[in-house]
Amino acid sequence: MVGAVSHDAPLRLTAARSRALIGRRRPPGDKSISHRSLLLGLLCVGETAIEGLLEGEDVLRTAEACRALGAVVTRRAAGSWSVKGAGLGSLLAPRETLDFGNAGTGSRLMMGVVAGHPIAARFDGDASLRKRPMRRVLDPLIQQGARVLEEQEGGRLPIVLQGTGAPLPIEYATPVASAQIKSAVLLAGLNSPGRTVVIEREASRDHTEKMLTHFGARVTVEPHGDAGRMITLEGRPCLRPAEVLVPADPSSAAFPIAAALIVPGSDVLIESVMINPLRCGLIETLLEMGAEITLENRRSESGEEIADLRVRHSPGLRGVDVPAKRAPSMIDEYPILAVVAAFASGETTMRGLSELRVKESDRLAAIAAGLEANGADCNIRGDDLYVRGADGAVRGGGLVETHLDHRIAMSFLIMGLASKEPVTVDDAGMIATSFPDFRELMEDLGARFA
Ligand code: S3P
Repeated sequence: MVGAVSHDAPLRLTAARSRALIGRRRPPGDKSISHRSLLLGLLCVGETAIEGLLEGEDVLRTAEACRALGAVVTRRAAGSWSVKGAGLGSLLAPRETLDFGNAGTGSRLMMGVVAGHPIAARFDGDASLRKRPMRRVLDPLIQQGARVLEEQEGGRLPIVLQGTGAPLPIEYATPVASAQIKSAVLLAGLNSPGRTVVIEREASRDHTEKMLTHFGARVTVEPHGDAGRMITLEGRPCLRPAEVLVPADPSSAAFPIAAALIVPGSDVLIESVMINPLRCGLIETLLEMGAEITLENRRSESGEEIADLRVRHSPGLRGVDVPAKRAPSMIDEYPILAVVAAFASGETTMRGLSELRVKESDRLAAIAAGLEANGADCNIRGDDLYVRGADGAVRGGGLVETHLDHRIAMSFLIMGLASKEPVTVDDAGMIATSFPDFRELMEDLGARFA
């Protein structure tokens, strides 16, 4: 049985300059889609079959929480899962605390689910999740009729949430472009007798809308303003269990892609990667920098476009200006982009990164500290990050503090594959939250870790 693991002792890991990365590999299933497939399975009566589920700790926490609310969740084989749901309106009140570990998405989306049912649940998580702001989700859920019975200062976990069996239909404009906020409101709105509307000024990832439609809900999406969207959900749909094929996670693919770009002689094929435009900001940016990436065998799978990405070592990478409006489509990829930028020539500017301060760590600070520890030249001004590239010659040799952040750990290990001296991260344990086979996949391509 695959189960969530707790981390007692930090796991130091070092990456050293590697030979050319060669080969083809498929990254693990998409984390966002994996969480959502379990949650929608919980909300249907009948059996939802999921293929390619990410078996990372974050997702396993969501699976556990679905069980606590009444679903029968079974792992049939690697990546192949079945969820027999309790059904919309019929969830059980969990007897124990729902412990989401490191998982922001799992906890916030489940708050939406609980808010739309007449049950109370206690939410908790690890030291990283306990620092993250939850008011951004609680505020709209309260408007929908949920009550917060207990919370820590600043709207932090542990939180006890009391939901309602008849959520009010609301129209909510999200204050920041966040798929987590949007999804929590929509999931709560599912059990509302009326229409729930979410307006976003800038479009965030649209997996919840797409999957709700796939499970039989009526959702309409209209453009709003320059770059925004208005999403309308009809309440109390008859949800039907569905089959979900989870495509490979572009946010995980980002690591072997970046590694191939900076390790001399590399030529890899990263297979079946989801290329949803709302997740492709990194690829767009890398192409602007002069990266040798080609999208091959474009095809559609389960409502998402996917492709195999051929990536070759790109010694001519140039610094670029990444506009703030691109942030929602590459929000989790700034740490690895900053590493690639350190190997490029010239300056890369990444604008409008305030949301990075409230991720698994204060990522803006963690990126800058990691770059500096390895001799890379960078600074932060306001919410913008500036990285001046060393034209392929990054010193390395640093010890990077990861602050319980999987993406900081993976990004700096990738740096170590191409820097002059090895790079060590203080704790690689959190990588298991999103990419349990990271080391194995990278080693198969030729990466050296110790
Ligand atoms: C996610 C949304 C993003 C992202 C997170 C996954 C999702 O967070 O950073 O890793 O699956 O909805 P925000 O919506 O808070 O920006």
